[in-house]
Amino acid sequence: MYSIEKDGYVHFMLKEIHEQPQVLQDTMSARISAGGAGVVFNEVSLSLEEIKNIKKIHIAACGTAYHAGLAGKNYIERLARIPVEVEIASEFRYRRPILEPGTLVMVISQSGETADTLAALREAKNLGARVIAVTNVMDSTMSREADDVIYTVAGPEIAIASTKAYAAQLMIMVLFALYLAAGRSAIGSEEMQEILSEIKELTTKARRVLMDTGELKKLAGEFAGRGDVFFTGRCLDYAVAMEGTLKLKETTYIHAEAIATGEMRHGPMALIEKNVPIVAVATQENLLETMAGNIQELTNRGASVAIVAMEGFEELEKVAGRVFYIPKTHPFLAPLLAVIPLQFLAYYTAVAKGLDVDQPRNLTKSVSAE
Ligand code: M6R
Repeated sequence: MYSIEKDGYVHFMLKEIHEQPQVLQDTMSARISAGGAGVVFNEVSLSLEEIKNIKKIHIAACGTAYHAGLAGKNYIERLARIPVEVEIASEFRYRRPILEPGTLVMVISQSGETADTLAALREAKNLGARVIAVTNVMDSTMSREADDVIYTVAGPEIAIASTKAYAAQLMIMVLFALYLAAGRSAIGSEEMQEILSEIKELTTKARRVLMDTGELKKLAGEFAGRGDVFFTGRCLDYAVAMEGTLKLKETTYIHAEAIATGEMRHGPMALIEKNVPIVAVATQENLLETMAGNIQELTNRGASVAIVAMEGFEELEKVAGRVFYIPKTHPFLAPLLAVIPLQFLAYYTAVAKGLDVDQPRNLTKSVSAE
């Protein structure tokens, strides 16, 4: 299905970015119930009673998988109304977390081998929690040690910069949140249908985003000469901004920092001056007005802001020079589309700098040491 060759692409990263529509399709089609009315996770052995009794969820992961966890927190809390804590696995393992009865722990890992995430899994099990692993690799250590395993079906990911695995992880987190919400009767059938029908449209919409790279290449050419780039967003958009930051850092060696937009005035604003490059993610309708005001403030100080926004948010063109649009979708699903321009930005900036895109310096695909 997914080959381990470049299949005509210059780099694995580019190939894997392009595989995302298929990955989304494969991940969703296995999970949406035959009649299309709900979500199934047959491999998870939680009974309805156990789902109802979940008091708290902890998610532990590293890097990109941690960013998928941050989005997962948004989904689970908003849909299933279960409190979620997301933690970097290397912190979780040494923090002596308090896991009370009724706590479910989820670890997310593309490889299923990351040392810190594995240690978090073991710590959680030692403390008596039930652990679900979300991983991309069959028979990985995490898949063997967890109580339940949810496989992302992204196929082998070769580039060190994770792209399609992130898409699959996000999709699983949305679907799992819907599954928990249904099990707890926290979601009505109308909302469930609304989200599921948007999920089914995602593959086509992701393909559209893949086709639109001209302006991104130009921006990447400009970024290639920069030393620092800021990313910003609120809520789900902040989670995506963090992922965009990591992609840029690891592939281009440019210092990048994600700042929650609301935090700007609490210190970071002092860094904003003429020509500072900022990527703002603005896909959430309920935050549109606030974001427009915040971005205006940045451009007033001379920052050069590029926005990734949802179609229909054209008023943002009044506050920034460049707006990249993703197709209109349900706000929960926007991260799955908004991340694609950010992945391209990192990719084309690395290419413009003549760097080894698939094998950035100092990094390995699976981090087996702490
Ligand atoms: O295999 P894992 O998902 O556990 O890996 C976690 C991180 O090492 C990984 O996501 C890393 O941050 C990537 N290079 C990001 O692109």
